[in-house]
Amino acid sequence: MVQQDNKTKRIIVKLKSVSRIYNLGNENLAALNEINLNIMSGEFIAIRGPSGSGKSTLANVIGGLDKSYSGTIIVDNEEINKLNDRKLSEYRNKKIGFIFQTFNLIPTFTALENVMLPLILSGVSPKIRKQRAYECLRKVGLANRINHKPNELSGGERQRVSIARALVNNPEIIIADEPTGNLDSKRSAEIIDILKKLNTHLKITLIVITHDPTIANKADRILNMHDGRISR
Ligand SMILES: Nc1ncnc2c1ncn2[C@@H]1O[C@H](COP(=O)(O)OP(=O)(O)OP(=O)(O)O)[C@@H](O)[C@H]1O
Ligand SMILES: [Mg+2]
Repeated sequence: MVQQDNKTKRIIVKLKSVSRIYNLGNENLAALNEINLNIMSGEFIAIRGPSGSGKSTLANVIGGLDKSYSGTIIVDNEEINKLNDRKLSEYRNKKIGFIFQTFNLIPTFTALENVMLPLILSGVSPKIRKQRAYECLRKVGLANRINHKPNELSGGERQRVSIARALVNNPEIIIADEPTGNLDSKRSAEIIDILKKLNTHLKITLIVITHDPTIANKADRILNMHDGRISR
C-alpha cells in the first residue's frame, strides 16, 4: 500500500522554465513564457484561459507534438527534449493519449479501424489489435457502433471513438484540448463523465483544456493561463 501511495504521489510531468517563442518578423511572441509546473500522477488538471493565452501550445509541448521550446520538460523521469525521433514517436503513441476538439478521426476508417491505428503503429498483432480496440470502444459505450464510419456517427459518438483511440495503448497521461468544444451540453456531460471515470478508475493523469465550467469543477486543480503564463 505504501508503495502505491508513493506511486500515486509522484511527479509525472515537470516543466522547468519552459518558453515557446514565435519569431514574427522583428517581433517575438512568447506563446509560453517561462512556465514552471509540476503535475502529479493521477491528477486531473483543467487548463483555462482566454483565446491565444497559450493553452494548446502548452498541451502540444507536453505531448511531444511541438519540440521548438526552450527549458526542460521531464515526463516520468525522462527529458523529452533529449529523445530521438523514434523514441519521441513512441512517447506520443504509448505514453500519451490525445483528444482534440475536432476529433481528428480518419473519415474512410470505421470506428474499430480508427481505434486500431495506434496499435498498428506500435506493431501489435492483428488479432490482439481487434480485441483491444473493441474493448476500448466497449468501455466508452460504442460496442454497437464499431463498423460505423465517422460520418455515420453523432458528434458525441465521434468524440467517444477518439477517447477509445486515446486509451488503446494504455497511456499514463491523457491530454484533451477542448474535448467538448463542438458538443451540446448533454453530449459534453457524457464525455466529461467518461474522462472523469478514466481518471478515477484507471488513475490516468488527465490534462484537459476547457472553457466548460462543468469540467473545471470536476478537476483536482485548475490552471489559469494568461499571455503564456500560469496564474493562480
Ligand atoms: N504557428 C504560429 N505562429 C505564430 N504564432 C502562433 C502560432 N501558433 C500559435 N501562435 C500564437 O501563440 C499564442 C498561443 O496560441 P495557442 O494556440 O496556444 O492559444 P490557446 O490558448 O490554445 O487559444 P484558443 O483558446 O483560441 O485555442 C497565440 O497568440 C497565437 O497567435
Ligand atoms: Mg487552443
